[in-house]
Parts: sequence; structure tokens; C-alpha cells
Amino acid sequence: MKLYNPGGERGSAMSYAALLEKIEIMRSTLRWASRIERPEVEKLLRQANTLRDEVMGLSHKERFVQALGAETAGDRRAETPAELPPVERAAGERRQALLARSFVFEGTFGDNPKLLDALEIAEKAAPTDLPVLVDGESGTGKELMAKVIHANGARADKPYISVNCGAIPDSLLESELFGHKKGAFTGAANDRKGKFESAHKGTIFLDEIGELPLPGQVKLLRVLQSHEIQRVGSDETISVDARIVAATNKNLRRLIEQGTFREDLFYRLSVIHVTLPPLRDRKDEIPLLVAYYGDESAEALKRRPVTLTPRLRAFLMAYSYPGNIRELRNIMYRLSCLAGETADLSHLPEDIRQEVGAGAIAAPKAPAPAAEITLAEAKRLASDEAERSCLERGLQEVGGTVAELARRWDMNRSHLQILLKKHGLHSKDFRKH
Ligand SMILES: Nc1ncnc2c1ncn2[C@@H]1O[C@H](COP(=O)(O)OP(=O)(O)OP(=O)(O)O)[C@@H](O)[C@H]1O
Ligand SMILES: [Mg+2]
Repeated sequence: MKLYNPGGERGSAMSYAALLEKIEIMRSTLRWASRIERPEVEKLLRQANTLRDEVMGLSHKERFVQALGAETAGDRRAETPAELPPVERAAGERRQALLARSFVFEGTFGDNPKLLDALEIAEKAAPTDLPVLVDGESGTGKELMAKVIHANGARADKPYISVNCGAIPDSLLESELFGHKKGAFTGAANDRKGKFESAHKGTIFLDEIGELPLPGQVKLLRVLQSHEIQRVGSDETISVDARIVAATNKNLRRLIEQGTFREDLFYRLSVIHVTLPPLRDRKDEIPLLVAYYGDESAEALKRRPVTLTPRLRAFLMAYSYPGNIRELRNIMYRLSCLAGETADLSHLPEDIRQEVGAGAIAAPKAPAPAAEITLAEAKRLASDEAERSCLERGLQEVGGTVAELARRWDMNRSHLQILLKKHGLHSKDFRKH
């Protein structure tokens, strides 16, 4: 396993060296080939795709570390550690300690105590083969957590196989999980490996485990007990050594009470139980996530990151995100795609805009509750708001004539235009008719 060590230069340098080596091999193949046949082209293409994915993975991790560094070096850290509130200091120290132990975050952000609890459990669980059950609302990062567990364990170099238990029709479930023998049923044209066999020596991620029908649960339980499977239509037993991580957004205990989930399976799967908190319970992480996904989406769309108007920023900080981090990510991609240089409330999806209109969210100018935003964020919001209202007052006084306002304030006109753009203000809206 290539360990990414975000703490020092060495980790990424080593990974980059490996990448460069692979690129060199490709280059020399191309340089010395007098003629390349199609299969060779296909092979090179596959290698190029793998390299691209590796670079993307590295850049994802690097940006995570950079964002982390910026956050650490920013206002929150301007105060000396001794001046930080005890909870915040402990969280910062815990995250640093994970970094120092070469913990692979796989792009997981945050130093919220509840998230750190989950990451620390993952760190301890990763090197063992114990089954882990991850629960949490939709979009809280359950799949990401499964990858974190895989990446930090001894199986990191081995396969990671993901199965969405809710998406497989009942009739195909057994064949999908355990494979089948040629001719076992109509349409079984060849022998086929199932997901468990594919995950041999690695990790199998059973997503939406609460959706697994009862007959499937019985079969899964049998595999958990015996570590053996049988392909559909075959008598042969095959040993499988797959580490199991399961996830659900359902309350499995409630499903047990309702008789739709087996209690014995629940206890088998949840030897280690990790619960991911919803984003509304870790709002302190929103600024970092907004910055990160704003950046990521800009890069993906090959454009400059959008500037958020103060009222949109205030909204994003206070919104409850029923779809959690996935919803925040989607919003940032939407803003990057639809807004010009500056994004405002009008660029939000229709359903969310309606909530804003209905006043379901704190009015933009009302300060968010102190506990929900960081001190640095509060300072920046207040300063943005002051800047905006000053610009509005100024424009009103000069009847929307930007040149006049620039003269009165003795400032560069184009700089003033930039500020107006940043706040989504249009001088023509202030003209007296
Ligand atoms: N702590 C985090 N930091 C950064 N990104 C995160 C974090 N948690 C989740 N994400 C991102 O949010 C998105 C949703 O995460 P993921 O698919 O793991 O959620 P999930 O809990 O499995 O959702 P669902 O129940 O809907 O399947 C992904 O793009 C993931 O990378
Ligand atoms: Mg998921």
C-alpha cells in the first residue's frame, strides 16, 4: 500500500515519483514504437486512464491537506492554542494526531468532535478484520467512511468491492453476491464470480444493508458464520476471506422490532458501530466544505471559483442541509455551473429558493446563531455586510453614478466596480428616474 503522508513532503513526493516512473515507461513505449497496433493503443489508453485517476486522487488529497493548512493558518489559528476554547483545541489536536499517525483521510474533512470520534473508531477498527456497521443520514459520508476503513487497514492493496443491497432485484441477489455456475438459470451463459469472491482478501462494502430482503439476510448470515460461499447451481464450497463493512441510513433496531431485519445479523455486522453525525450537527465544518467544493467544482468545470455574495454565504452557513454533505457538494457544483463571477441566492435550486422566500431560513442579514459559525466566519460575514451596506448607501447618495462615488471616496473606479460585482450590486438599480 502506498501510504499518503500528508504531514510531510515525503509521502506525496514518493507517490509523485511512482507516477513519474509510470509516465516514463509510457513515453519510452511511444518513443521506440515504429508502429502501434490498436490493441497496444487500447493498452496505453488504459494506462493513461489509470494515471489520470491516480493524479486526480493525489490532487484531491493534496487539496484537502492545503485546505486543512489554510484553515489551520487562518483566523481560527491566529489565536495561540492557549486562547482557543478547550473543545476546539482538543479537536485541532486530535486531527493533528491522526495526521501525524499517517491516517489516510480519503478526502474526509472536518474536526468536529463527533466526526473525530467516528474517524478514531475507524482508525482502531481498520487494522482488524472485525465487521463494521456505519450508520447515518443520507449523504453524511458512510461510503467514504467505508473507504477510509479499507484504506487504513492491511487490505488496502486488495480489492474494495461495493454492493448496493437495495439495488439488486430479489431474483438476482444470490447470483450477484455469490456468483453462479453456467446453466444454473436461464441467462446464466457462463460461470460467474460473485461480489464476495471478487472481494477475497479485500473488503466488501454492503451498502443499504437495511434494504436486504430476509432471504438474503439468512444467506449473508451463513457466509459470516462459515466464511464460505457456494455459487448458484454449484455444490462446491469456496472459502472467502472478505472484510465486511455495512452501511445503512435506516434505524436497524427499529427494523428488528418491525420484523424486517434479523437481530442475529445485526449483532454479527455491528461488532464495531460507527455513527456519522448529520451536517446540521457539525455546522462548524460548513465554511471549509464550501471552500473545498467551491474549488473542486471550479476545477472540474475549468473555471475560476465563484465569489459568493454575503447573503448567499450567510444562507449557506445557516441552511439545514437535509441531504447533508452530498447536498452541499451539489449546491456548490450548481453555483459554479450557473453563476457568472458572483453567485447569489437566485442561483440556488428552486426548492431551496422557495424555503428562502418562505422565510424558513434565517433572513440573510440576521446573524447566524453564535454556536453555528466560527469566530473567523462571523468576523468575515460582519465585514462583508458592512462593506455591502456602505456601497449601497454610497450608490444611493450619488444616484448610481459609479464615477462620482469613486471620486468622492478617492478610489480607483475599476476597483469599485469589482467590489460592486462581488456583492451583486448594479449601479443602474440606484439611478433616480
Ligand atoms: N467529511 C467529509 N468531507 C468531505 N466530503 C465528504 C465528507 N463526508 C461526505 N463527503 C462527500 O459527500 C458525498 C456523499 O458522501 P457518501 O456517498 O459517502 O454519503 P452516504 O452517507 O453514503 O450517502 P447515502 O446514504 O445517500 O448513500 C461524497 O461526495 C463524499 O465525498
Ligand atoms: Mg452511500
